[in-house]
Amino acid sequence: MSLTRKAYRAAILHSIADPAEVGIEASYEYFEDGLLVVDNGQISALGHASELLPTLPADIDITHYQDALITPGFIDTHIHLPQTGMVGAYGEQLLDWLNTYTFPCESQFADKAHADEVADIFIKELLRNGTTTALVFGSVHPQSVNSFFEAAEQLDLRMIAGKVMMDRNAPDYLTDTAESSYVESKALIERWHGKGRLHYAVTPRFAPTSTPEQLTLAGQLLTEYPDLYMQTHISENLKEIEWVKELFPERKGYLDVYDHYQLLGERSVFAHGVHLCDDECARLAETGSAISFCPTSNFFLGSGLFNLPMAEKHKLNVGIGTDVGGGTSFSLLQTLNEAYKVMQLQGARLSPFKSLYLATLGGARALRLEDRIGNLQPGTDADFLVLDYNATPLLGYRLQQANNIAETLFVLMTLGDDRTVLQTYAAGNLVHQR
Ligand code: GUN
Ligand code: ZN
Repeated sequence: MSLTRKAYRAAILHSIADPAEVGIEASYEYFEDGLLVVDNGQISALGHASELLPTLPADIDITHYQDALITPGFIDTHIHLPQTGMVGAYGEQLLDWLNTYTFPCESQFADKAHADEVADIFIKELLRNGTTTALVFGSVHPQSVNSFFEAAEQLDLRMIAGKVMMDRNAPDYLTDTAESSYVESKALIERWHGKGRLHYAVTPRFAPTSTPEQLTLAGQLLTEYPDLYMQTHISENLKEIEWVKELFPERKGYLDVYDHYQLLGERSVFAHGVHLCDDECARLAETGSAISFCPTSNFFLGSGLFNLPMAEKHKLNVGIGTDVGGGTSFSLLQTLNEAYKVMQLQGARLSPFKSLYLATLGGARALRLEDRIGNLQPGTDADFLVLDYNATPLLGYRLQQANNIAETLFVLMTLGDDRTVLQTYAAGNLVHQR
């Protein structure tokens, strides 16, 4: 037996498939009295406690939780590190919000000490909210990504990030050039991509802030290195879409700009996609690209309602994203609460098992990491959460009335937030204790 073997006993729930593909009942596994066994940072067994316990040595270290649910760690497929200090900025929609609040806030990351301080706050906040993997925008400054990866590496977290590439239509103090963005991104890739559990994402901010030359070089980076990610924004706001048409009149539409510069692919994640058309969804699906659905941000910035059923029709990979600081909470539970309302406003439903899928396995699939994270299958990384049924008096009382795991899960996602996350484990290590 390995010295680092540990077991965790509680109710355990994880997604094993997309409910849209297999139906709700076949989409999850639930163990009312479950046991999760962790060896050297990886899950080695999952099952009913009554079945697994007799197979284990009598002296195994078991932590037993009452009134708690173990789930995979949450995956946030879209968030901005340098916007931590401006969450909840008043009054504007996307383009004015960027100019009024976002760019000045991001400019502070020219200072490495500031980047270090915010990276620390940001990672603590992710872990407090149960997010164990995130796809993260830095600022235009490479040091924002260095600070983030240095902090993530210390905790052996699985994280993906990139330096923003932005060479036009932004203040001079915050732009790079096509050439410098290529050179700086390359240096970050060489330093971080594939180091431990870290991955690099080529990060053109969005089409309006990159010249054709910069987009060309972004595409070139993707061909130069295997398994790189690409993240950007798309079709979030109607004025933004009009602006893209003016800037790229030769292209068929917004997605076609990215397609032309070869930025679509299996590791490409496009945030928002609120106003995508049918053809664009089909092209995203065809190329294996993913969408990050960002409901709190889409409400807060007045961007619109994401059409999840259309994405499902095209079998498009969809994850969920907080989009802090356009989004208003680091909590994926709170983000799912808003996602439910997005569907209600469109006359549709969001089953709690689909929500669980979006925040875990669906996110992992969007990132092509389902063999490592987003579920609790033996052989995957031991990134998991302990959710506390008694996190608040109201939650405790409400859950006493719940009749089954579907109701429990839905109430956790409706009333839950950071307080619900009792513990967060990453690679088998306790990285947050409430
Ligand atoms: N589009 C371009 N940049 C941004 C950003 O920082 N946040 C959001 N929500 N949309 C963007
Ligand atoms: Zn964003």
